[in-house]
Amino acid sequence: MTRPLSVGVAGLGTVGGGVLRLLRENADLIAARAGRPITVTAISARDRTRDRGENLSALRWYDDPLALADDPHIDVVAELIGGSEDPARALVLRALLAGRHVVTANKALLALHGGELAAASEAGGAVLAYEAAVAGGIPAIKTIREGLAANRISRIAGILNGTCNYILTTMRERGREFAEVLADAQKLGYAEADPAFDIDGIDAAHKLAILAALAFGQPVNFADVHVEGIRAISALDQSFARELGYRIKLLGIARQTPAGVQTRVHPCMVPENAPLARVDGVYNAVVVEGDFAGRIMLEGRGAGAGPTASAVVADLIDIARGRATPVWGSTTHLAEAPALPMSAYTGAYYLRLMVVDRPGVIADVTCALRDAGVSLESMLQHGRSPGETVPIVLVTHETRESQMRAALDRIERLDSVLERPSLIRIELG
Ligand SMILES: NC(=O)c1ccc[n+]([C@@H]2O[C@H](COP(=O)([O-])OP(=O)(O)OC[C@H]3O[C@@H](n4cnc5c(N)ncnc54)[C@H](OP(=O)(O)O)[C@@H]3O)[C@@H](O)[C@H]2O)c1
Repeated sequence: MTRPLSVGVAGLGTVGGGVLRLLRENADLIAARAGRPITVTAISARDRTRDRGENLSALRWYDDPLALADDPHIDVVAELIGGSEDPARALVLRALLAGRHVVTANKALLALHGGELAAASEAGGAVLAYEAAVAGGIPAIKTIREGLAANRISRIAGILNGTCNYILTTMRERGREFAEVLADAQKLGYAEADPAFDIDGIDAAHKLAILAALAFGQPVNFADVHVEGIRAISALDQSFARELGYRIKLLGIARQTPAGVQTRVHPCMVPENAPLARVDGVYNAVVVEGDFAGRIMLEGRGAGAGPTASAVVADLIDIARGRATPVWGSTTHLAEAPALPMSAYTGAYYLRLMVVDRPGVIADVTCALRDAGVSLESMLQHGRSPGETVPIVLVTHETRESQMRAALDRIERLDSVLERPSLIRIELG
């Protein structure tokens, strides 16, 4: 067997701890598959005194994670600190430019600085691998970059954030409101103390930007991802979704069309029998459509120490075998298609309004839709309560987002419409 692959691990939290444990517990199997042992020889974290549940006394400790990039005895740096800026960014750039391979789980860093990192990887002749950055234990990156490498990919759709999927699933199953379920998710450790990154869709958008760059062979473009989170979803919408035969999911969707690439993250009404609608709880899923392979769906755990460590170590095994793939899957950009704005999106919509139940209200709403060129497929109203506030639900035929927005502007201004309308796009999954 050849010389062990020497790894420096920066960040010993959930993921870093998982990586140390996995490399130790499955050391023999990993060495057999990699063709040589993979050994952690140096580590870095903030607090040297914290008990990490492992004996780390034989490893070189660095208070400054950047020093790992300069350690001549390290072949690979595993960046498991997180955050789009320093020290993670500086560490990855420094290691790559010094010719040291890097494995990272950091989606924010890749989504915001993917071009700069790819240039550093090329300049230093070092691999940058990031299987763990998208959908945790699901091998989504390998599937697109390797398994589907011969395909023109037209569309990716995914449930890319386990926290959101857990909240939406629990709201649906228990008939509870968003804020209550979020508070419980925080107590259970399924949501962060500051949950904004997850529930506002930003984490999913980071992952979608990475998948889109890889699938369509173009530079990472996080700035043009349209992002909406799940804060506005109510128990009432969940109950109407059920009645209409849908489930509400936060999806990340990237589509390549002749006019350009559209990337968007927002809540969707997905037909309840679609495979993506059936992915519940903290699970993630990724659907990829290739011109020769057809449609592929992967499902699994998108976070947690075990699944994420599994993805990090898969990358380490590739590096130990001497496998090198271009950071974004192709040696040159395949295309630089323009980013399509959301106003160009076309689809069907679910629209829920809270209105005063009085004559003429429905006529005012349908006039606003008609004048904007939006045609209705169906309408739901339960019973009558004259003078009271009642929900009405409208489902439209396929229409352009710009037309729907024009209608909504007018509807929101009607004095019979009492709350901000709830608008959810209908997606086939
Ligand atoms: N958690 C998941 O399930 C998951 C899934 C997929 C991807 N990821 C990604 O994996 C990365 C790590 O996530 P995590 O959940 O493991 O985070 P975490 O539990 O918060 O751990 C972060 C680690 O980084 C260390 N650290 C923070 N700032 C540092 C600094 N300035 N210098 C040196 N070390 C520093 C911390 O040190 P101390 O321990 O001493 O405080 C800690 O060990 C992130 O990019 C995240 O997005 C996580």
